Amino acid sequence: MNQNILELKNLSVNYGEHTVLDSINFTVTSHSFISIVGPNGAGKSTLIKVLLGLTEFSSGSVLIFGNKPGKVDSSLISYVPQIKTMDRNFPAIAIELVISGVQQRWPWALHGDARTKAENALQLVGAKQIANRAIADLSGGELQRVCIARSIAKYPKLIIMDEPAAGIDAVGESDLYKLLEDYQSKSDATILMITHDWHIANHHSDFVLVLNRKQISYGPPVESLKEENMRRAFGHIGHDHTLKSF
Ligand SMILES: Nc1ncnc2c1ncn2[C@@H]1O[C@H](COP(=O)(O)OP(=O)(O)OP(=O)(O)O)[C@@H](O)[C@H]1O
Ligand SMILES: [Mg+2]
Repeated sequence: MNQNILELKNLSVNYGEHTVLDSINFTVTSHSFISIVGPNGAGKSTLIKVLLGLTEFSSGSVLIFGNKPGKVDSSLISYVPQIKTMDRNFPAIAIELVISGVQQRWPWALHGDARTKAENALQLVGAKQIANRAIADLSGGELQRVCIARSIAKYPKLIIMDEPAAGIDAVGESDLYKLLEDYQSKSDATILMITHDWHIANHHSDFVLVLNRKQISYGPPVESLKEENMRRAFGHIGHDHTLKSF
């Protein structure tokens, strides 16, 4: 049975006098792949921070697994931040980072159930062979695989990702989205992903939220990503960027 993972009603967020999100309304049911699309400054990351309980909202209501943000069992949710927010020189090896996602603290010993879960997750994302490599020595794509492994290792019900393909080349990006879609279809997880690329959103999502401070549209990609919605969100869009199938 599908259960509501997220319910947002008339959510608004102000930073001082600036309204960054205005009357956002959408519901996410379990076992779905959701993309959030919008231009720079549209409020995408702010929306995620509200869901994670990191940013206060000004009005409306938000329920996540039926609870207020920040009051949710942490084993239910994983968060993959934008890669550039992470210090690449952090002195650790890949599997330590993955285990820290299972047990919510830094692993002083690399054995036991948490290690097994971490190894399984690395295997799933095709990164088992780099388990013992230093984080500083990984390529952008390798590091992102390790971060995805960290996010799935504890089998969360909701994975929230902010631009997961940032810094990854085109081939790595295509592999990454295939991997995510495959994982999502085999597990009972819901994925909520920010992307600036609406072709990716079109290809991989069940539902797309188009945002530019206001909610432009929310629905299946074929509806939500219509050209008129893209124009409202992004202003002028180049010919090459129009989704021809619509
Ligand atoms: N803590 C803050 N205080 C004041 N303004 C903020 C704060 N955080 C974000 N903003 C502003 O809110 C707006 C939305 O920012 P946000 O980071 O949510 O956008 P975004 O859609 O994620 O953009 P990008 O695609 O560039 O990542 C921006 O104008 C930003 O400058
Ligand atoms: Mg952002």
